Amino acid sequence: MHKYLKQLADSNQVLIVEKEVDPEFELAAVTKKVQLQGDQIVRFNKVKGSDLPVVTNIYGSRQRLCELIKAPVDGFCKSWSALVEQSKSMSEPSTRLVDAPADLVQGKLGDLPLITYHEKDAGPYFTSAIFLAKDPDTGIPNLSFHRSMHVSDDELRVRLGSSHDLAKYQARAEAKGEALEVALLIGVSPEIFLAACASIPIDWSELNIASTISGNPIDMYQCETIDLQVPATTQIVIEGRILPNELRKEGPFGEFLGYYVPEGENHVFEITNVSWQKDALFHSLLCGSSEDLCPLEAVTAARTYQHLVNAGLPGIIDVSCAPAFMNTTIKIKQQYEGHAKQVLTTAFGANMDYNRACFVVDEDIDITNMNEVIWAYLTRGRVDKRVMVLHDIPGFYRDPHKDFWGRIGIDATMPMDRKDEFIRKTVPGVDDINLQDYISQS
Ligand SMILES: Cc1cc2nc3c(=O)[nH]c(=O)nc-3n(C[C@H](O)[C@H](O)[C@H](O)COP(=O)(O)O)c2cc1C
Repeated sequence: MHKYLKQLADSNQVLIVEKEVDPEFELAAVTKKVQLQGDQIVRFNKVKGSDLPVVTNIYGSRQRLCELIKAPVDGFCKSWSALVEQSKSMSEPSTRLVDAPADLVQGKLGDLPLITYHEKDAGPYFTSAIFLAKDPDTGIPNLSFHRSMHVSDDELRVRLGSSHDLAKYQARAEAKGEALEVALLIGVSPEIFLAACASIPIDWSELNIASTISGNPIDMYQCETIDLQVPATTQIVIEGRILPNELRKEGPFGEFLGYYVPEGENHVFEITNVSWQKDALFHSLLCGSSEDLCPLEAVTAARTYQHLVNAGLPGIIDVSCAPAFMNTTIKIKQQYEGHAKQVLTTAFGANMDYNRACFVVDEDIDITNMNEVIWAYLTRGRVDKRVMVLHDIPGFYRDPHKDFWGRIGIDATMPMDRKDEFIRKTVPGVDDINLQDYISQS
């Protein structure tokens, strides 16, 4: 993480805040203000109540995500899918056991920055923590994100999404009457962060993806109080266990969809050890902001891309879930009449939760810009003939009122046989103009 941040600082992408900030709202407010203006990383050197500096907005840029996996700007899906495929058939072990860092600092939860993000949140939350746990049946490790509410130095409360592997691990441990041992990793190297975003089959470890991205086995050391190994570069490690048959109140919390999730009965995480590196940085992540959505959208889009390619559909160029991952936009090179409609019907099956609206566009459209996508829909054919509405299909799993049921598909491509009429007009020379050569200060 230090190495990556140094690289970003060298290219002027890091803003430094020296003024002391309050972890209650002020830190999140500054983060949000920066995100409204751009995608720079922010480093807060003084956060009231903790000695640890805080860094945020590291992954809130599609360009940075592409650079991390050496993908061209419009090629994240293809490169990511290739990485994930490669990690499936690794011949070398993905991890290597090393000694724990000699200078690890031992402390308590209350020594860490306890950040409250939104007005009606029940209290401080850890939002960037990656949960590392082993399948109680198979021993396969899993990495995933789950927000957790700070209660005391001994306890966090965690909401486990029912479709996530960690919820299945917890249920398997509970069936044996056991607690599930978990290490929470805060401030990880980029390959661990990206790997944790992936949703892959339960019998396959995200650590393979991390190792494939880095090109080397991941160095891991043994935890102090639980039977787990953690990546050696992790800035802060919270060791503990999710208790069996024990639920307590958690929430409300301002979630990724932009609303508050109300208080609910959720899992209890008992802390057994907290440690950090001597020069540790704490990673704060504003839920629902670009840093939360950009990586989640990118890997969700890549999953749809892979699904379409696996289904044998030709001409699939790229997929985006911007501006929110309930949306899917697919860029194709049209091959035959009706191609876009086949792509739409196949895309709906790519995942059960998120692709509520799907658009298909031609190769000249920027799929990260919804203005362009809607423009293509409105200017390239009849609006009534190019929409398909699928009724009564369940969507997002947390949906008591069926608000997420149904799907809409929009073919925003141009007619195959009239391509010449839809050549986009251009003004020659725009890219070469330097405005300073033309405009003088009045
Ligand atoms: C930055 C980020 C934060 C996330 N935070 C949460 C969260 O707080 N709770 C949750 O249920 N899912 C969250 N998710 C979604 C999943 O945890 C995540 O996609 C994970 O890959 C699921 O892993 P699994 O397939 O191994 O279960 C988050 C995803 C990202 C990329």
